Amino acid sequence: MDDDAFHHVPVLVDRVVELLAAVPDGRFVDATLGGGGHAAAVLAAHPGLELLGIDRDDAALAAAAERLAPYRERVQLVRGAAGDLAGLVRAHPPIHHRTPGTGVIAVLLDLGVSSPQLDRADRGFSYRSAGPLDMRMDRRQGFTADDVVNHYDYATLARVIRDNADERFASRIARAIVEARPIEDSSHLARVVRDAIPAAARRTGGHPAKRTFQAIRMEVNAELDQLAAALDDAVALLQPGGRLAVLAYHSLEDRAVKDHFRDDATGGCTCPPGLPCACGAEPTVRLLRSGAWKATSDEVEVNRRAESVRLRAVEKLGEPA
Ligand SMILES: C[S@@+](CC[C@H](N)C(=O)[O-])C[C@H]1O[C@@H](n2cnc3c(N)ncnc32)[C@H](O)[C@@H]1O
Repeated sequence: MDDDAFHHVPVLVDRVVELLAAVPDGRFVDATLGGGGHAAAVLAAHPGLELLGIDRDDAALAAAAERLAPYRERVQLVRGAAGDLAGLVRAHPPIHHRTPGTGVIAVLLDLGVSSPQLDRADRGFSYRSAGPLDMRMDRRQGFTADDVVNHYDYATLARVIRDNADERFASRIARAIVEARPIEDSSHLARVVRDAIPAAARRTGGHPAKRTFQAIRMEVNAELDQLAAALDDAVALLQPGGRLAVLAYHSLEDRAVKDHFRDDATGGCTCPPGLPCACGAEPTVRLLRSGAWKATSDEVEVNRRAESVRLRAVEKLGEPA
C-alpha cells in the first residue's frame, strides 16, 4: 500500500445512507469521520445536510478533506474527540442556519480504528508488524501503549486485558508481559502474548494477540468512556425527527449502544413488563429496528472488517420545531 494513501472501505454504507439521508435539512455530525467514506455518501444523497466532521486523528482528517472536497461549502472538519461532542458542536456553529438550536439532525458513530491506522506500522496498532508501542488515535495525547504495557502494575494490566477483550488468559498474558519488560515494540508484544497462550488455544479465534492488542488500544484511547459520553451528547443534541446511527465491531461496545438505546427508548422505565408505565418515564427516542443490522456475506467477502459489525439506529421523539 502507498504509505500516504488512506484506503478505508466504509461498512454497511447503503444502510447508513438510507437511515441518515431520510432526515430533514440540518446538521449532520460524523463524530468518527475517518476517511469520510460514509460522510461523502450521506452528503451526496442529501443536499440539505451540512457536515460537522470530527476525528481524533490528523491523518484521517487530511484524507477526509480530500474526499469531501466536492462538498466543501457545506463541510467543517474538526480535530477532537466524540466524547466531547456537545462542546465541539457548540464551538463550531452551523455554516447555514437552516434549523433552530444546534440544528443537529443526524449523528454517525463508526467506532474503532480505520484500516490505515491498522496498516501503518508506525502507529503501533498492529500485531502483524513491528512498530512503536503507541496506539494513540490523537498523537497530541501524552499517554501511549508504552505506558500500559511497560508501566501498569500486573493487576491493572490483567483487568484491562480481561475487561476490554474478554480474554480468558488475561492473567497469564499480564504476568508474561510484566516478566518480559521492557517490551520494545509491537512485534515483541505480539510474541510475548502468543507465547503466554496455551498452544491448543492458539489454534482458534484468529491471531492469538488480537484481543490483547484491542484491549490495550481501548485503554489508550479510553474508547468505552468516549462511547458513553458520545451517546449521551448525541441523543441530547438531536432535533426531533433527527437520527443517530452507530456501527460497533466489538461486543462490549455493541452492548453499551444497545443498553443506552433501550434506556432512551423506554425512558429508563422501571415498571414490570406487560403493565402500563406508572413510573413517569419519558422515552426520548424510538428504535428504528429492535435488533441490529449486520453485513451480508457478500459484503464480508469483499471487506473483512464488516464481519463483526452491528449497526443500531434511533430517531429522536418530539414535535419538529
Ligand atoms: C472505523 S473508522 C471510521 C471510518 C469512516 N466511517 C469512513 O467511512 O471512512 C473510525 C475513525 O474514528 C476515529 N475515532 C475513533 N474513536 C474516536 C473518538 N472517540 N473521537 C473521535 N474520533 C474517533 C478514528 O481515529 C478513526 O479514524
